[in-house]
Formats: sequence, structure tokens, C-alpha cells
Amino acid sequence: MTGPTITLSGVYTAYEGAANPSLRNINLTIDRGEFVVVGGPNGAGKTTLLETINGMLRITHGSARICGINLLEDGVGVRRRVGYVIQNFAFDPLSPFTAGEVVLMGRYGRLGYLNRPKEPDIRAARQAMQMLGIEDLADAPIGTLSGGQQQKVLIAQNLAKEPEIMLLDEPFSNLDLIAKHSVSTLLHDLAGAGITVIVVSHAFDDLPPRPIRILVMNGGEVTADHTCTPDEVEDIVRTASGSDARA
Ligand SMILES: Nc1ncnc2c1ncn2[C@@H]1O[C@H](COP(=O)(O)OP(=O)(O)OP(=O)(O)O)[C@@H](O)[C@H]1O
Ligand SMILES: [Mg+2]
Repeated sequence: MTGPTITLSGVYTAYEGAANPSLRNINLTIDRGEFVVVGGPNGAGKTTLLETINGMLRITHGSARICGINLLEDGVGVRRRVGYVIQNFAFDPLSPFTAGEVVLMGRYGRLGYLNRPKEPDIRAARQAMQMLGIEDLADAPIGTLSGGQQQKVLIAQNLAKEPEIMLLDEPFSNLDLIAKHSVSTLLHDLAGAGITVIVVSHAFDDLPPRPIRILVMNGGEVTADHTCTPDEVEDIVRTASGSDARA
């Protein structure tokens, strides 16, 4: 289970209609099972990097291979293998779905449109909810849950997908101290199981006890790339991004 799972070569990404690219000349190789933290100030390009990796944004120059797939040829195939927990997501308060149904939606990419979930799908969804400690929320309408509870549902949905790569954008922002620690432990276990974990975060106080690859972004570029211990991450980010590393 070694070898690159993400290779970006000379990648530029631009938003529709934007005068300048938001990612500039990204050259990055990430191996299976690496635990990557992406830091840097607001507007640096962290979310753009995640959405480039899973093919949601258009690459204007360069090439990308994700899970052995040419991203420019098969973005759907890439997204089937990549989990993505987006930043600041909130479900519609009137959404008709229960939390359990939302988690089960993580299986839809495997099912195809006309197939109903089968026993393994239901089991995967149930296990993902157990891992987040939210089994008791399964029947609650998703829109009635708190921000932190909704975030756990979204993480569970992506776990149920059984991805090869898990992208998480500020996953700790709505979580209480206990939940933060348990999600950190969960991500540690995922990386231990060979899943590549990439976390965008401004909080570095509860990183798992393992080598951390820290990427610091500034102005759409990766300006620092080190593998270090969890304790060293904050200083590296602060030094590489200037005084507003915690912005
Ligand atoms: N939908 C969009 N259309 C045009 N430009 C955008 C869009 N989203 C982001 N940008 C621009 O791309 C750049 C990078 O934004 P991005 O959201 O990746 O930053 P970030 O590092 O995730 O910041 P934050 O810490 O605030 O989440 C910024 O200059 C931003 O203005
Ligand atoms: Mg962002």
C-alpha cells in the first residue's frame, strides 16, 4: 500500500471568470496513507487545492493523477474514490432527510442510480455512524441537528463511502473538545489503514501522534512542505505564513 495516490504536476486552477488563477504551479506528490495538514492564511488557496484534487474545479494548466486516474479524463471516477467534507456546510433546516439517510447517501456512488441500498450498504452506513458516536441521531431530521452534529453526519457520510482519499476542510471548527479529539483519533486510524488523509485546519492542538506532512499555502502556492511531529506543526505554519497564521 505505498506509492503516490496524488500527483499534481504544474497545476494551475482558475475560478470561472476570475482574472488570475487561485492555484499556481502546484507540484505535489502524496503517498498512500500519508497524513497531510494544509495550513496558511485566509484566501491562500487551501479549499481550492482540495476542490482541485477531487476534480470539482477546472485545471487550466498542468496534469493530475488521483488514485491512478487521469483527473482531466475522469473526474467522476476520481470523486467516487475521494471523500470530501466541505467547509462551513449547513443542511437546509427543512431538508426531508434523516441523518441516517444522509449517511447512506455516501453509498450512492457505488450503487448506480436505479439500485436500492443492500445489506452491505446499510452496514457500512451504520458502522460509520458508530465511529462518530451518532447512532442515536439516525432518525432525526438532518436540518434539526446542531452544527457540530451535522458535521459529524457529513464525516460519517464520507466514511460510509469507503474512500481511498479523505479530504476534510476545517473539520474541527464546530466540534467540542471531546468530539475534536475523537475525530482526530478516527483520522489517525484511517491513515493507519492506508487511507490518505488531507485536513485543512487552523487548529493544530489535537493532531494525531504520527508523522504529519504539513503543507503551507500562500497566494495560491505551496510555500512550505515538511514532514514533522505534531508538536512542530504550529511553528512551521506560523513561520511560513507570517503573523496571521491563526487568522
Ligand atoms: N467561487 C470563487 N470564485 C472566484 N474566486 C474565488 C472563489 N472561491 C475562492 N476564490 C478565490 O480563490 C482564492 C483562494 O480561496 P480559497 O477559498 O481556496 O482560500 P482558503 O485558503 O480556503 O481560505 P479560508 O482559510 O478563508 O477558507 C481567494 O483569493 C479567493 O478570493
Ligand atoms: Mg477555505
